[in-house]
Amino acid sequence: MSAVGRSRRSCLAVPGSSPKMLAKAPGLPADQIFLDLEDAVAPLAKPAARANIVAALKDFDWGGKIRAVRINDVTTPWAYRDVIEVVEGAGDVLDCLVLPKVDSPAAVQWLDVLLTQIEKAVGLPVGGIGIEAQIETARGLAAVEEIAACSPRLETLIFGPADFMASINMRSLSVGQPHPDYPGDPFHYVLMRLLTAARAHGLQAIDGPYLKIRDLDGFAESARRTAALGFDGKWVLHPGQIELCNEIYSPDQEAYDHAELILEAYAYHTSQAGGARGAVMLGDEMIDEASRKLALVIAAKGRAAGLTRTSRFQP
Ligand code: GLV
Ligand code: MG
Repeated sequence: MSAVGRSRRSCLAVPGSSPKMLAKAPGLPADQIFLDLEDAVAPLAKPAARANIVAALKDFDWGGKIRAVRINDVTTPWAYRDVIEVVEGAGDVLDCLVLPKVDSPAAVQWLDVLLTQIEKAVGLPVGGIGIEAQIETARGLAAVEEIAACSPRLETLIFGPADFMASINMRSLSVGQPHPDYPGDPFHYVLMRLLTAARAHGLQAIDGPYLKIRDLDGFAESARRTAALGFDGKWVLHPGQIELCNEIYSPDQEAYDHAELILEAYAYHTSQAGGARGAVMLGDEMIDEASRKLALVIAAKGRAAGLTRTSRFQP
């Protein structure tokens, strides 16, 4: 059921303890939903939330959305039951598990082994359920390269700003926002480190939540910052953030057309018919093999977002 390579521009958090929100989620335009058993669910509500989540996965039509469940972290007494109940109950309609507060490869490997055991026991394809690792502690960031490399089930690394800020003792209560007393972007280091580790191991990089759900300008600023770096998408906590999020993590039409144009122009000019040249002019811009690689990224994001071309290359 793996969702490797699928679009994850917007990843909607849905508390497993809310039957009303679970019922509403299938109709919303998010690329991914994750049904939450962790911080959005009170300890006493977790057993009922597991049952709600299994029923929602089985009973609702989720269309083309990536279906994920966030379990509790490996240091809690809930984690093993989360995995067993959700995967035994609805493993055939589940794409991924989100593992929070990943501090070391051992946490991911524990989940990988448990998933393999359950898949074998219930007759699901072994390795079919992916893992998304939340990097949201100082230890997790310190080990992010080893974590990114540690399991073939891994599909994404996700930045968790709220827990991360707490973990490093950041003096702020404004999650994911610039800090008024800090002259730069306090998250630049963590974002680049996570993104580089993800790309080095073929994983998607996902930005975490923006908590002021009514402040769409603040949300957009926070999303644009990571979309510009190359992140694939962001968590959304409210339906009102979804369309904006999809738009921000898709290339705009002009950039998409330009990327396709570079690919076509470069393919033509490097062919026999085009003179087999390596570096060529496209309008007033010089393009070469590195331009082709950059263009591939934008073109792939545009195609995944369903964009179609509005211009063509003329030799
Ligand atoms: C998300 O889990 C966060 O801690 O920001
Ligand atoms: Mg968190």
